[in-house]
Amino acid sequence: MESRTGTPVEGDDFFGREKELIYAWKRIKAGNNLIFPSPRRVGKTSFALKLLEIAKDEGWQIISLNLEKNIGEKAFVESFVEELKNSSTWESLKEKSSKLFQLLKQIKPSFEHGEIKVSLDWQNHKEDVYKQLSELLDHDKQTLIFMDEFTVLLSNIINQEDGHRNVSSFLHWMRELRIKSGSKIRWIFCSSVGIENFTHLHRISATMNDIGDYSLKSFDVETSIAMLKKLAENNNVDLSNEVQDAIVQKLSFCLPYFLQLMFEKISYLSEVELLPINFEIVETAYNALISEKHFNTWIERIDEQYGENAKYAFTLLKHICQEKSGSKRETLINILSVYIQDTIELNNILSTLLFMLINDGYLIEEKGLYLFRSPLLRDFWFNRFVK
Ligand SMILES: Nc1ncnc2c1ncn2[C@@H]1O[C@H](COP(=O)(O)OP(=O)(O)OP(=O)(O)O)[C@@H](O)[C@H]1O
Ligand SMILES: [Mg+2]
Repeated sequence: MESRTGTPVEGDDFFGREKELIYAWKRIKAGNNLIFPSPRRVGKTSFALKLLEIAKDEGWQIISLNLEKNIGEKAFVESFVEELKNSSTWESLKEKSSKLFQLLKQIKPSFEHGEIKVSLDWQNHKEDVYKQLSELLDHDKQTLIFMDEFTVLLSNIINQEDGHRNVSSFLHWMRELRIKSGSKIRWIFCSSVGIENFTHLHRISATMNDIGDYSLKSFDVETSIAMLKKLAENNNVDLSNEVQDAIVQKLSFCLPYFLQLMFEKISYLSEVELLPINFEIVETAYNALISEKHFNTWIERIDEQYGENAKYAFTLLKHICQEKSGSKRETLINILSVYIQDTIELNNILSTLLFMLINDGYLIEEKGLYLFRSPLLRDFWFNRFVK
């Protein structure tokens, strides 16, 4: 097992989650489609890739699309068809697919009108395009389709002309494919930006209500220690039991990503800065991590996804990161009341934001108190916005 911090892990680098894989695979085989809700860096992509590996081993056809490049609808269709080309049934689809290629080629590129992209020709032809794309899918063949970073695509569609109508009809098209009677195609979706936040915010949750959530949890103490042991053994780092315990205690919320980050930082401090591996190195590594870039995306996503409420989300988080044991709703109401005078609006905005921040993995609610899910993220936030 290599120490990897960033890109999804595959093969031997994937640790644990055996029971979860068995369970999720059972759900898929039973006919369910799954969304892995959003909390960032939980290991969603790695988990989904592992499921694809399992599906492939059992003879399923697999289709995997990463939509993080912020492509629009037409490019989405093109990459979907590209992926289908690798499927075993492609030969029999050649005629239908070349018709679709012809159609796609004819569509004139969109043009910019101020901030907004206008794509008249696409709008005129898209119904036909989606109809033809549907016909390329073989519902009699067991197939697992994985869409990663799905919300990036949805955001792209909604930000263009007539966005709400287009995103809604796109999601309805996809829903029809999923609920087709007798279909052997199963779908998994994940996104580092909450799909459920997006559909809820734009009042189109019904378009995805046929899909079950599957939430990946952080590692428990035992699994975290086992992962640290394996990393230490495979990478020749002398991590004593005492140090392993100290890492797990310090992190408290042990995502495999956080364990990897701590392990990597300790290896660096030991091998390059020649620090002894003891209790103090854990503190040093932790303090280094909270001042680095690893959590910048948590800041950026609020700016990108929370729209007009982003500034209030920052205000709330800035306060909550200073209260280790959590903040009461009344306290948060008081803080926002400086900016929002209307009581009904204030309560609505706070409820929406708490729902989104919990969904996106920033906060948890415990006994009526709102606190950061991860001490590491909380200390990063404090370091960046308060200190
Ligand atoms: N099962 C695992 N075993 C070991 N490390 C893991 C595992 N899952 C995730 N990681 C660690 O977490 C990092 C992020 O994993 P991954 O990209 O799968 O998460 P993600 O939830 O898809 O992230 P994002 O929200 O940014 O898309 C990996 O680079 C790796 O360090
Ligand atoms: Mg991912």
